[in-house]
Amino acid sequence: MLLQKTLLSFFFFSLLLLVQSKHNHEVEEEEEVVTRSMFPDDFIFGVATSAYQIEGAYLEDGKSLNNWDVFTHHPGNTGRGENGDIADDHYHRYMEDIDKLEYLGVNAYRLSISWTRILPRGRFGEINPSGLMFYNNIIDNLLLKGIEPFVTIHHFDLPQELEDRYGGWLSPHMQEEYVYFAKLCFEKFGDRVKNWMTINEPNVFTQFAYMRGTFPPRRCSLPFGNCSAGNSDVEPLIAAHNMLIAHAKAVKLYRNHFQPKQGGIVGLTANAFHYEPYTNDEFSYQAVERSYAFNVDWIFDPLIYGNYPALMRKYLGKDLPKFSKEEVELLKGSIDFIGINHYSTFYALDCFNSNDCTSTENRAIGGYTGRAIARNGIPIGDEMGVFGFRIVPYGMEKLLNRLSLRYPNTSIYITENGYCPPNYQEGTELLQDFTRIKFHQTYLASMSKAMRKGAKVKGYFVWSFMDNFEWIQGYNITFGLYYVDRNTMKRTPRLSAKWFKDFIANGEKSSTISTF
Ligand code: BGC
Repeated sequence: MLLQKTLLSFFFFSLLLLVQSKHNHEVEEEEEVVTRSMFPDDFIFGVATSAYQIEGAYLEDGKSLNNWDVFTHHPGNTGRGENGDIADDHYHRYMEDIDKLEYLGVNAYRLSISWTRILPRGRFGEINPSGLMFYNNIIDNLLLKGIEPFVTIHHFDLPQELEDRYGGWLSPHMQEEYVYFAKLCFEKFGDRVKNWMTINEPNVFTQFAYMRGTFPPRRCSLPFGNCSAGNSDVEPLIAAHNMLIAHAKAVKLYRNHFQPKQGGIVGLTANAFHYEPYTNDEFSYQAVERSYAFNVDWIFDPLIYGNYPALMRKYLGKDLPKFSKEEVELLKGSIDFIGINHYSTFYALDCFNSNDCTSTENRAIGGYTGRAIARNGIPIGDEMGVFGFRIVPYGMEKLLNRLSLRYPNTSIYITENGYCPPNYQEGTELLQDFTRIKFHQTYLASMSKAMRKGAKVKGYFVWSFMDNFEWIQGYNITFGLYYVDRNTMKRTPRLSAKWFKDFIANGEKSSTISTF
């Protein structure tokens, strides 16, 4: 009798848990098996990093100060006063790190070049041979191990000298500076590097640097933020405009002078969230369209069609910079592939017709849209460590379907996708990171669904290879497959590193966490 009672209450308790978890978020993902064999043989499976976030050695061997070196040394600019002076000390440990990439079995590695390591003063000084040697060593050793380098030329860090002289990307002079830098990369590394990304996330960089004022050069205006100077309504648009033209000029140079001989491809990476309608009415669907236009199409429409999206032109009018006829020609078709950094999904709020928006959302530059992470009290997905990021695997498929419709002839690489726990590596999540494994399994499954529907996805990079300097949030946010001990710099593979290795190696067999 007692046993019966216990079994019965256990049954009801389990049922309760099931019902509760079903209601935890609105759309439940189906359990899905994802295997390496579901992707083409030549599919790229890699991991990603960026120079400032891992290299350290901030003033060694001829490198000079960049915008992040200067910014992070100002008290109060980063969460806990942290900086990238040492970061993961990758500058001294790159051989050990390349061994770890080999262990993972990845066929590609995405890295970026530190501008001031090879051109300490931009066009105003000499080329730094030690910097070139550092990247040559990395590239050669990757290739020796059969790992393709995917190189981002510019990932948020630029010479402080250019910031001081020009005010950074606000100035059209930066276009020529960038082309000079890109040319040096093509010249010195292009015989071995066949996959280039010109710039990382112009959409995120310009919004943080010139709208919210949280990234260097910390420019903004009220109500977006409290900076000593700036204009949040127009400066992000101007900076992005210069970045897009700089990209197109560098690509022209590559296509005319390097591509015929070197035979590589060149793309640009932007950040792209997916947006779901907040309510089931026309206004919400329009808000989704505006969110995409002002965040994603903003970057890719010019690179593919030669102009900004119609919705941006409509709502921004004169505030939106215009491309000249020559620039339109230069921009049109200026990418061989689309690079996407995808992390999360939001509900798009319509700020014209609802009172749910804040004063910063209710502005032209955001397309009069806001973002919500819950609907009727139900979160869109489980929480991650970056504020507002939620785990929403179906967003990957929907985003890719949309990109495929808008840009049907262009290949796509997922250049970043990754998970960081909401609380700094508590308990078992420090190394037994089951949530991260589940994150990648479900996002990969979602990506493969989009591919079955026709999305031309050619590769997938995990962000990140190892824990690193997460910009203004410092070392508190951990995205790594490898855990990095901040005192010893020792790298330890998390369970997710072993899972990814097994996933890549296993072919038909699904690598589940129980295999360890
Ligand atoms: C950036 C990375 C960053 C990651 C996680 C992307 O916006 O390219 O540098 O670490 O997101 O926040």
